Amino acid sequence: MSSDPSPRTERLLVRQARWVAHEVLELRLTRSDGGELPPWEPGAHIELTLPSGLRRPYSLCGNPADTRAWTIAVHRVPDGRGGSREIHETALVGRELEVAGPVNRFPLLPAEGYLLLAGGIGITPLLPMARELTMRGLPWRLLLGARDRSRLAYADDLVELGGDRVLLVPQDESGLPDLAAEIAAAPPGHAVYACGPTPMLDAVTSLCPTAYTERFAPGDGNTQVAGAEGEFDVVLSRSGLRATVPAGRSVLDVVRELLPTVPYSCEEGYCGSCETPVTAGVPDHRDTVIDPSERATATTMMICVSRSASAVLELDL
Ligand code: FES
Repeated sequence: MSSDPSPRTERLLVRQARWVAHEVLELRLTRSDGGELPPWEPGAHIELTLPSGLRRPYSLCGNPADTRAWTIAVHRVPDGRGGSREIHETALVGRELEVAGPVNRFPLLPAEGYLLLAGGIGITPLLPMARELTMRGLPWRLLLGARDRSRLAYADDLVELGGDRVLLVPQDESGLPDLAAEIAAAPPGHAVYACGPTPMLDAVTSLCPTAYTERFAPGDGNTQVAGAEGEFDVVLSRSGLRATVPAGRSVLDVVRELLPTVPYSCEEGYCGSCETPVTAGVPDHRDTVIDPSERATATTMMICVSRSASAVLELDL
């Protein structure tokens, strides 16, 4: 649950870009000398520093057996926080970017079989999982939903890999995916993994509290929705500072005004960079780093998305 030590960083060349769905651009990153990259396992992500200085985490979606390239896919979010727009609108092929990682906070844990549920660009960590499970000869089924067929990224690769184990759900033709039916049909002993937008993951976790989820707001989509209600005070015990966190602002936003060097990355509650010890008060955990079963006893919180259930929250900062 604690933050990983700083992941390794190096400059990698953007070797190739290609469209893999409507507004989804795939980038292939290699060492400039074509040398081998560190190994990774399905579920891992890397963090790119874009030419503007923005840092954004993306799941690795290629094949771990390809040791000379890392592949990511980025969905363009016109009204996002700028990372996906920059990737889509900048000529990156031939340029080097600083890349940190890989880090894996969404690993495949042992199970008798797997149900993989993807919403939109949330397919990216699940595609290598499906490959790995096929290679290991384990049972799996995958559902991929998107607004329409043109947005079903990697649909052909998935069908080639899994045949009728893959259910594609273009919502303009088929309506919303029947998550309840899929989860109910999963045999006992099968693990549920889900990645996609927040409403989908909320639905999955309410149907299956033991599901493993990675919140993957599209591209660099909006995650502040969770923090829309209630203000509270935050006390930074080591710095002797106090401030109010108003409705609609994150603890991280307010803390950064007081302590500009506080670490953070995804701002979406899944990378763990902003994990902060809590010394008093009751956190309202809204991240996906801390397992739901550990929330009641957790002594840290992700200040980018989590809030406070008490009037005052004291942090070890
Ligand atoms: S910045 Fe990623 S979990 Fe908070």
